[in-house]
Amino acid sequence: MTRQLFVTTALPYANGHFHIGHIMEYIQADIWVRFQRMQGHQVHFCGADDAHGAPIMIAAEKVGKTPQAFVADIAAGRKPYLDGFHISFDNWHSTDGAENHVLAQDIYRALRAAGLIAVRSVEQFFDPAKGMFLPDRFIKGECPKCGAKDQYGDSCEVCGAVYSPTELKNPFSALSGATPVLKSSEHYFFSLSDPRCVAFLEAWTQESGKLQPEVLNKIKEWFTKDEQGQGGLGDWDISRDAPYFGIEIPDAPGKYFYVWLDAPIGYLASLKNYFDKGGPKAQYGESRSFEDFMADPSVEQVHFIGKDITYFHTLFWPAMLHFSGRKVPNNVFVHGFMTVNNGEKMSKSRGTGLDPLKYLKLGMNPEWLRYYIAAKLNAHVEDVDFNPEDFSSRVNADLVGKYINIASRAAGFLAKRFGGKLSSDLGVDGMSLLETLRAHRHTITELFEARDYGKALREIMALADRVNEYVDANKPWELAKKEGAEQVLQDVCSVCIEAFRLLTIYLKPVLPALAANVEAFLQIAPLDFTSTDQLLGAHTIGTYSHLMQRVDPKLLDALFEPPTAPKLVPGGEELAPEIKIDDFTKVDLRVAKILKAEHVEGSDKLLRLTLDVGEGSPRNVFSGIKSAYKPEDLIGKLTVMVANLAPRKMKFGISEGMVLAASHADEKTHPGIFVLEPFPGAQPGMRIR
Ligand code: 2FM
Ligand code: ZN
Repeated sequence: MTRQLFVTTALPYANGHFHIGHIMEYIQADIWVRFQRMQGHQVHFCGADDAHGAPIMIAAEKVGKTPQAFVADIAAGRKPYLDGFHISFDNWHSTDGAENHVLAQDIYRALRAAGLIAVRSVEQFFDPAKGMFLPDRFIKGECPKCGAKDQYGDSCEVCGAVYSPTELKNPFSALSGATPVLKSSEHYFFSLSDPRCVAFLEAWTQESGKLQPEVLNKIKEWFTKDEQGQGGLGDWDISRDAPYFGIEIPDAPGKYFYVWLDAPIGYLASLKNYFDKGGPKAQYGESRSFEDFMADPSVEQVHFIGKDITYFHTLFWPAMLHFSGRKVPNNVFVHGFMTVNNGEKMSKSRGTGLDPLKYLKLGMNPEWLRYYIAAKLNAHVEDVDFNPEDFSSRVNADLVGKYINIASRAAGFLAKRFGGKLSSDLGVDGMSLLETLRAHRHTITELFEARDYGKALREIMALADRVNEYVDANKPWELAKKEGAEQVLQDVCSVCIEAFRLLTIYLKPVLPALAANVEAFLQIAPLDFTSTDQLLGAHTIGTYSHLMQRVDPKLLDALFEPPTAPKLVPGGEELAPEIKIDDFTKVDLRVAKILKAEHVEGSDKLLRLTLDVGEGSPRNVFSGIKSAYKPEDLIGKLTVMVANLAPRKMKFGISEGMVLAASHADEKTHPGIFVLEPFPGAQPGMRIR
């Protein structure tokens, strides 16, 4: 039966570029999606930017942009990452899209009609220094559940609890540092504590197979009330006061949906946008509308998320969907975090984590990372660590050493000696090897289905080991030198190519670009999982060109090289070499009064200044400030001059000193000359020290 899958990954906040944690999640989901497509299933894989919320509004304001322009700029930077790592989203949208406004308001109205929206006046934290209600993320304090310090106002990163900011202990404003004060305002709540919600969620979360066991355990804690009847599911504050970048709440002027209300609805908005653009029709001949598609009970809705946002996706989200009469998620697949060097993220020598764009810009193969991440993933909520040595060895020893090598060892002989023609008589050993490979299809597909990619790859590499044993036992390089062994050589090499093709099928969800190159090299149609049913037989393959390089350790060094901060060159000019105080006192700087300032005939740069330095007789100084000052504006002003500079003979006369003025090194790009003027009270002749 063909499955219809609607698959999403968590929508990234549109206030920053992707980090390695996003890419890990996308790779995890993409492997699963590609695997499903290769099984012949229909997948709609949707993403979007999470555009709303106070932090984005504040960040946009800081750089002088509208929030819309701000998030559009971030969205414009997404493509190089997604294409670069071969993430095959069918659609990418934004939670600020028109679809999301309509869907969020519809869902809200349905919840209100179901009697699940309550309005209460609540005291909320107000920053007296900033004069505004503080968004949750801008209030910090100690977690009310576990006491962890420095936690945000909406949820605890240590114990995962979700709460309202007023529950924090010792709160402070992250905007001003001020202690926030309570102020009253009307808020809208989703009544999660309603017995209908509790009953629904208890049933939904328990349904077998929906959630990982450790996720279920966590949820049970959230359900549980203590002896005093405290805890358990609380109502959820879904409104925020203007000014807010978000979606307006119907019939509630000045009130907006809290970003987490409309964010998951963005999954539906992206799918709707994709349907409205005709994507599913073009891809699968799907003729139904988005609404009809989502009303089909056989459609499976699957969300990939990180462990930190489990509460939103396993409690609020299914309840919102269910009580607005919509399909609820079939699965919420939760993964752990990505760490680098066991979380030594701030290690000086290794830089600050793994920048995915830098990885690509260095020309590192994206499929190395896909392979490595896949090799470390399982179906549990465990963190995945990137370790550079481990990365090199898995790619070099396993991927290249075991798998790629099979093709490179056989292809040369086939091309040179047999015009690329494979033999269809593969011998007993050859056939039995290929049978073994084909027989593993079931196990391997089950492991992909269960997201146990690490185990799937171990199975595949164990099969590659078997193929290499076959090569070592049959020694094609010796057969090539042996008289009369032509046929055996062709048979053995053909077995290798057949085996390589079977392994490529299994690896294709992880290594899609490599698989495409293999398909081109073997001159075959795109592989899917049914491709294991047949062998190539007497087929002619193309010429082999190297399919994958090994990881060069220099690349990893460059990847983790801390970015060298661009050297600040103040005023466009490096600082002069260091001097001692004695060097400075050699320069005699004096306050001078400008008695006269005149144009110099024949010079478009100079003014002639007559300066009183308290010596009785004035000095004559030529100064290159004509472009910046009119003579009459200078007369009577005080300035600073170098009084012990040797007199210089110039074209227009002798200059007996130098007036101090500031300018940028590059006057073309930074025009302007600024003559120094002492604070009031200075007298001509005073020394500057
Ligand atoms: O935690 C986050 O990064 C959120 N932007 C995830 C939202 S997921 C979905 F609800 F949109
Ligand atoms: Zn906590």
